[in-house]
Amino acid sequence: MPEFDLRFSKEQIASRIEVLAAQIDRDYAGKNLILLVVLKGSLHFASDLARKMKLDPPIDFIQLASYHDDTKSSGIVQLKKDHDMTIEDRDVLIVEDIVDTGLTLEYLRELLEARRPASVSCVSLLAKPDAHQREVALEYVGFDIKNEFVVGYGLDHAEKYRSLPFIAVLRNPV
Ligand code: PRP
Repeated sequence: MPEFDLRFSKEQIASRIEVLAAQIDRDYAGKNLILLVVLKGSLHFASDLARKMKLDPPIDFIQLASYHDDTKSSGIVQLKKDHDMTIEDRDVLIVEDIVDTGLTLEYLRELLEARRPASVSCVSLLAKPDAHQREVALEYVGFDIKNEFVVGYGLDHAEKYRSLPFIAVLRNPV
């Protein structure tokens, strides 16, 4: 049986998301916002964040991958699925579950900036400042965490544990 060391409970996550949603609502009032959800890890975060927001922006998806069933980043970012809606002249808010090395966010920002949006910002539920290899702008962060591998609430280990309601360190990865 997997054993977990809890980092953020369901309740802690929910209350932090309420604060982020209110902040984003305020900052993007009157703007041409689009939420760009980075699959797959952000699925629960994006869903909860969007439903706490009052602005009701359009939502699109992009899929990138860098981890490949390991607990470490491969360092190579792959575009697996591009977004469908045009982002030209729109205020894009990237929705991420975690910014670890920062390579994915760096890649994504470059890709999107070339498509002439009005602005690009990012909200990430988690950030690992000690693991960042790049100084990428990250406008909204739910929680900073230590450089340890966490699962749950969208975050996986070999595609498992994404639907845990909490975020935890896996004690005995198998
Ligand atoms: C994770 C996470 C971020 C990225 C962060 O995605 O969702 O997109 O890694 O890592 P980085 O800052 O080191 O680039 P992953 O590649 O595991 O895909 P998944 O979301 O589909 O699990």
